[in-house]
Amino acid sequence: MNFLVTAGPTREPIDPVRFVSNRSTGRMGYAVAEAALAAGHAVRLVSGPVELPPPSPGIALVRVTTAADMLAAVKDNLPWCDWLVMAAAVADWRPARCAPLKLKKSDGPPQIAWEPTPDILRTIAPLKRPGQRFCGFAAETDHLARNARAKLRAKHLDAIAANDVSLPDRGFASAQNAITLYLADGKKFSIPLASKIQCAKTLIEALEKVGTT
Ligand code: CTP
Repeated sequence: MNFLVTAGPTREPIDPVRFVSNRSTGRMGYAVAEAALAAGHAVRLVSGPVELPPPSPGIALVRVTTAADMLAAVKDNLPWCDWLVMAAAVADWRPARCAPLKLKKSDGPPQIAWEPTPDILRTIAPLKRPGQRFCGFAAETDHLARNARAKLRAKHLDAIAANDVSLPDRGFASAQNAITLYLADGKKFSIPLASKIQCAKTLIEALEKVGTT
């Protein structure tokens, strides 16, 4: 199958030297891309700015910075994929306008007007072709199951990999993760605490079975 994977944070510019972003390292998404390649799939990886070594040469890498860039790259590659796995931690808000010149400290704290970034999964949901499947990630600090199932429905997903980002030993900026995979048919599947590489391998094995049982 063809796997399109997104990874890492996005950065939304405030001025030429400043941006807003989040603590995503990209490790989970990169691990998903590597696991899909190791399982024999063709893989394209759309990556936000990360400090990771490049993926294996067999993975086609598209580097992006902002949520708008990521949306464009996902749209470009969407017709090609059988599975889209959105592991990226897309920024939800961006400054309505990027100042053309560096904001000066002497001008005092800036008043920044915010606007929502495009929600990539919601935007592309109508573009889904028959046979294509989409998996989101849900980063939650509370009410994991309720919030993840709500996102599964709201974003018209086939699966959502929920992880708790409130605990120090997993999720954001950790080498480990624990995932509960919720499927659109109501089934759920637990991937216990393990390295992100092991979690990714188990996740790919679970996704390969979606829709075939
Ligand atoms: N996502 C997206 N576009 C955005 C924000 C998120 O496609 N602008 C995707 C993420 O890649 C992930 C899923 O939506 O696969 C859920 O992301 P998450 O940050 O957990 O949820 P949000 O929709 O941002 O909601 P909230 O911040 O309220 O939890």
